[in-house]
Amino acid sequence: QFTPRVFSGIQPSGDLHLGNYLGALKRFADAQEQGVQSIYCMVDLHAITVWQDPADLKKSTRELCAGFIASGIDPEKSILINQSQVPEHAQLAWIFNCVARMGWMGRMTQWKDKAGKNAEAASLGLFAYPALMAADIMIYHATHVPVGEDQKQHLELTRDIAAKFNHDYGVDFFPLVEPVIEGAATRVMSLRDGTKKMSKSDPSPASRINLTDDADTIAKKIRKAKTDPDALPSEAEGLKERPEARNLVNIYAALSDQSVEQVLAEVGGQQFGTFKPALAELAVAKMAPITAEMNRLMGDEAEIDRILARGAEQAREITAPILKRTYEIIGM
Ligand code: ADP
Ligand code: NA
Repeated sequence: QFTPRVFSGIQPSGDLHLGNYLGALKRFADAQEQGVQSIYCMVDLHAITVWQDPADLKKSTRELCAGFIASGIDPEKSILINQSQVPEHAQLAWIFNCVARMGWMGRMTQWKDKAGKNAEAASLGLFAYPALMAADIMIYHATHVPVGEDQKQHLELTRDIAAKFNHDYGVDFFPLVEPVIEGAATRVMSLRDGTKKMSKSDPSPASRINLTDDADTIAKKIRKAKTDPDALPSEAEGLKERPEARNLVNIYAALSDQSVEQVLAEVGGQQFGTFKPALAELAVAKMAPITAEMNRLMGDEAEIDRILARGAEQAREITAPILKRTYEIIGM
C-alpha cells in the first residue's frame, strides 16, 4: 500500500570517510539509478546532539552536500536537503518522543557508546536521537533505508515506533521500514584496530581515510594499516579469524564493484607488501575524482545553498501533508 521511497542521512559533523562513502554515499548513487524516488539528507539536527562550532557546522553541511553530489547524487533525480530546513522532521520527532519508551532508547548501543560512563552529562538530544531518526524516515513514509550495519538497531527502533503509533491510534499510517544493508562494505573497520568501525569520532586520524585526503596520505595510511604477517587466502573462509585482512579485502571488493570471492580469486596468495600498494592505487583512482569535484563545488557556496533551498521546497510537498494527517490522527 506504500509506494517505495528511499531515505537516508549523514551527519555534517566532520570529514567524510571511506566508511561513509562505501557504506552510504556510493550505494545511494547506485540506488538512484533504479528510479525510485529518493531523499538524501544532511542531518544537522542530529549533529548538534554533541557540541558543534557554529561556523564549522555551516561549512560541514555545505561540504557534505558537495560530497553527496560529487559521489553521484544528482539533485535533478534525487531530493537533497538539510534537515533543519524541513521543519516537519523536528515536529514529527516530538510526537515520536511521546510514542517511544525510555527503556527502548536506553538499550541503544550507540547511546551507550557515545554517552559512555558519563550519561548524566550527555545531552537529552543524544538520548532521543533515534526518535528523530525515525521521524526523518517516517515523515516521508519512506520504505527503504540504505545504511551501514551500525544503523540496524536504530532502524528496528524506527519500526517499533511506527508500529506502536499505528497500534495506539488504530491506524495503518506509518510503513514498517526495510533496512537495506548489503554489499561488501556495510561495516568498514578502523585501519588501526580491526575490531572498531571506521568513524568520524575516532581520535586517531590514521584510523580512517577521509574523502579529502590527497593521494600520498591515502597511500601512507593504507601502507601503515594494521595487518597480520600471513599471505592472503584464496577463499573467504580463510579471512574468518583475520579481521584486519578481511577489512582490506572488503574495501578492495567494494571499491572495485566485485564480490569478496572474485577479489580473492585474483589476489589469493599475495603478501600485504603487494596487496597494499594495489589497494592504495585503487582507492586513489576512485576517490581522487570525487575529492576534486567536491573542491570544485565548494568554490560556489551560493550554488550549494540554492540546491538545498530547492530540495527543501520539494521535500515539504511530501512532509507537510504527512504531518497534517498525523496531527489529525492524534486529535490536533
Ligand atoms: P559516523 O558514524 O562516521 O559519524 P554517520 O553516523 O553520519 O557517520 O553515518 C552516515 C552513514 O554512513 C550511515 O549510513 C552509516 O551507517 C554509514 N557509516 C558510518 N560509518 C561506517 C562504516 N565504518 N562502515 C560502513 N558504513 C558506515
Ligand atoms: Na554512525
